Amino acid sequence: MSTRFKRTLITSALPYANGPVHIGHLAGVYVPSDIYARYLRLKGEEVLFIGGSDEHGIPITLKARAEGVTPQYIVDRYHELIKKSFEAFGITFDIYSRTTSEVHRKVASDFFRTLYDKGEFTEQESEQYYDEEAKQFLADRYIVGTCPHCGNEKAYGDQCERCGTSLSPSELIQPRSTLSGSQPVKRKTKHWYLPLDKHEPWLREWILEEHKEWKINVYGQCKSWLDQGLQPRAVSRDLDWGVPVPVEGAEGKVLYVWFDAPIGYISNTKELLPDTWEKWWKEEDTKLVHFIGKDNIVFHCIVFPAMLKAEGSYILPENVPANEFLNLEGDKISTSNNWAVWLHEYLEEFPGKQDVLRYALTANAPETKDNDFTWKDFQAHNNNELVAVLGNFVNRAMVLTRNYFDNKVPSLGELTEYDRETIAEVEKVKQAVEHNLDHYRFREAQKEAMNLARIGNKYLADTEPWKTSKSDMERTATILNIALQVTANLSIVMEPFLPFTSGKIRSFLKAERFDWNVLGSFDLLPEGHALGEASLLFEKIEDDVIEQQVQKLHDTKKNNEAGKQKAEPVKENVAFDAFEKLDIRVGTVLECEKVPKTDKLLRFLLDDGLQKRTILSGIAQWYPNPSELIGKQVCFIANLEPRKMRGILSEGMILSAENSDGSLALIFPSEDVLPGSPVV
Ligand code: MF3
Ligand code: ZN
Repeated sequence: MSTRFKRTLITSALPYANGPVHIGHLAGVYVPSDIYARYLRLKGEEVLFIGGSDEHGIPITLKARAEGVTPQYIVDRYHELIKKSFEAFGITFDIYSRTTSEVHRKVASDFFRTLYDKGEFTEQESEQYYDEEAKQFLADRYIVGTCPHCGNEKAYGDQCERCGTSLSPSELIQPRSTLSGSQPVKRKTKHWYLPLDKHEPWLREWILEEHKEWKINVYGQCKSWLDQGLQPRAVSRDLDWGVPVPVEGAEGKVLYVWFDAPIGYISNTKELLPDTWEKWWKEEDTKLVHFIGKDNIVFHCIVFPAMLKAEGSYILPENVPANEFLNLEGDKISTSNNWAVWLHEYLEEFPGKQDVLRYALTANAPETKDNDFTWKDFQAHNNNELVAVLGNFVNRAMVLTRNYFDNKVPSLGELTEYDRETIAEVEKVKQAVEHNLDHYRFREAQKEAMNLARIGNKYLADTEPWKTSKSDMERTATILNIALQVTANLSIVMEPFLPFTSGKIRSFLKAERFDWNVLGSFDLLPEGHALGEASLLFEKIEDDVIEQQVQKLHDTKKNNEAGKQKAEPVKENVAFDAFEKLDIRVGTVLECEKVPKTDKLLRFLLDDGLQKRTILSGIAQWYPNPSELIGKQVCFIANLEPRKMRGILSEGMILSAENSDGSLALIFPSEDVLPGSPVV
């Protein structure tokens, strides 16, 4: 770390809590930021790593409306799911909070008020569409109409998804409100603007002159924004979901999501460190680094710095190592088309293989240009590198030591010229990895780290201890001592990239975590040190597993396309008495909890009007807080043959509606009824 800085504050973009996270998020933001945070911590530096969910904004309100639930309900669901996925992948945030927290509301509100009081905003009146039936202003996304370019009747107020043109709502022919279907009218409304044009001169100097070292993709995007000339940006919206604008006469207005979200980094720091947060944000010797995807560049390099500067007491980011996008099997990742590999699904389908994905994503990181993730590639990284190089080397070092030296570190004898060369090569790894990490080149850094395993592998192949053991145990001891020291070094150098694997290696070696600074040493394991038990670090992934994943992607896409065009065809008719045979009823939820050791099942205890009834339902994934369902009424089939699952007798079936993406939503009666009421 250059002498100017004493500590590093790392932020990673706050993902929108309107859906689960996928490999694109992991590759672009969370794995690199985690590698960086782990690396600095290992070096003994003072580091803070901030994460959290971005829980405001129109897409969340749209999703809530589509599902007939509140926005809070949506963000609660996804915040939990996202948080768990990150934990499972070993992303070591010091805090993962959310922009609906009380602390955030206050911090964001005060921030706005400070700028307001300092006269840092301008006010402007404009005409905007208003829905007289729903009595609210309409965000562009809430307006549909006919596209003036291609005639698509379902173009949105900001964009036509058929021809891709960006639109403004007033260009739409026959605009309609998606809230009520009525024709919106224009009304005057007042908003606050951040006059970016006023900030342009110092931003130009700060970015274009003082930060020429920023990644070329980041620098280039900033330059093009600045060259086009900055415009004032509205920082408030007419909406009822968000942080209220703390100004008199601003009823019904909230802070624009891109105003409040980056302040979330500050609020989360404050939530974690209520007494000392300011040193992280206000002292010149803090190095602030934002990890983001390329669609966030303007907000982190221009808008947020302008906000911080306008406030007056904050530092500015030192670097913004934004990544480009990760594609999937040749196509853009698309949440709405379900063209994605979701982290929570990967965890179910590849249990214990978090490091494999971390490795493959870093090996293929979209650092300077968009990149493509393919399952074949994933398999190749696993089989040819993790299994064949890293796993193989560690396994050989361990097994040979167990076989020849009773699982104890043998003693180092006289070194050959070749030993010395190998040691010299190992010593070079540290600097190579550091140099790359210090410049946010994670892909190269991981390659250099992996190079250590290659050196080890080659060393064993060349020295052939299985042969020397027949005639020269002293030589064999030296070879294996060296191999074990390399193994210990691997546990250090791999820690930022493959934390789970690194932990396993340490347990094989019965060693505590080493300091980064001893990386490259050959006295990490003392002679005679008793080793632990080893197992295979990685296993081969077979073709059929990979083919299944590819197939799954194409299948969900197909289903999705079909689902969008038309609903499922209606099943064959049945006679009325066949329908009457089904006994569907309403029950009140008395207890609801996850069935231990399952991912999908919730156990319900219902009051069915006559007695208490247990029913299992495979919807856990969509209801991360099952206790919130207690007291709700659900519909269930009462006369379905009972069946045992996980040793529990399930007496019926709870009814849910299935979305096109396969997600399930429980069906509730629109008003409370007596438990046991039949559904007719
Ligand atoms: N939610 C935004 C996105 O996913 C990122 C917000 S980053 C923050 O694109 F700075 F605003 F928090
Ligand atoms: Zn169009």
